[in-house]
Amino acid sequence: MSVSATAKINIVVMLGGLLALALYFPYLWFGVTPFGSDQEFSKADIQSLLADKDMPDFYAQSLPERTELEMSEMKAAYNWCRFCHTLDQEGHNRVGPNLYRIFGSPAAVVDHFPYSDSFIELRESGFVWTPDLMQAFIEDPHTMVPGNRMRYPPMILYDMCDKRNQMIVEYLLHMTAPGAPSDETISPLPEPQEGEQPFNPCV
Ligand code: HEC
Repeated sequence: MSVSATAKINIVVMLGGLLALALYFPYLWFGVTPFGSDQEFSKADIQSLLADKDMPDFYAQSLPERTELEMSEMKAAYNWCRFCHTLDQEGHNRVGPNLYRIFGSPAAVVDHFPYSDSFIELRESGFVWTPDLMQAFIEDPHTMVPGNRMRYPPMILYDMCDKRNQMIVEYLLHMTAPGAPSDETISPLPEPQEGEQPFNPCV
């Protein structure tokens, strides 16, 4: 049986369309891109972005003492971010860049991460991450950095509130600090018992 030229073209067009959809939905929903970046930032590059900025060492400031349970609750508040970000020094880039030592760092200087033009402009504007700016960013990432590729908040079933945002920022201060243990060392909250709601900092 011979396949006509038109049928062959149709098959190619259909496969091309399927491939485009297979790439488009992960991009639309999660900001996944098939591209990498070979850009690296030296200490000198970072120093020049920090020139004239008199930033305190945010990691030297003392944080409230937390119980193991409170740490687990902060970990749970941060859960959705973990889908795309790692926090410790050895952490890889996922859909989003590794966030080790993010406070006091210029925006968009993680090696090999393919930042959007919006984040590249943010870096060039001299933006440096502080806990307050982090809080403002996660409250509304797309107003603060228009056109960025970070798909947060998720489209469905997610409560955002000041309490959650504060917990996330404090968790980041603990877990992205130099010498912090891996986020995996913080125990997850126990599974909710029957009839119990899962932990939600917003209710
Ligand atoms: C679905 C994936 C995804 C989720 C969930 C997500 N992020 Fe992101 N994040 C990204 C991507 C992608 C970028 C880079 C955006 C760009 O280049 O436009 C980014 C960028 C960032 C940056 C800038 C880092 C830098 O190098 O300047 C910070 C900080 C950040 N995210 C924190 C968070 C926090 C905190 C949460 C949870 C409240 C979170 N993200 C949730 C994907 C995600």
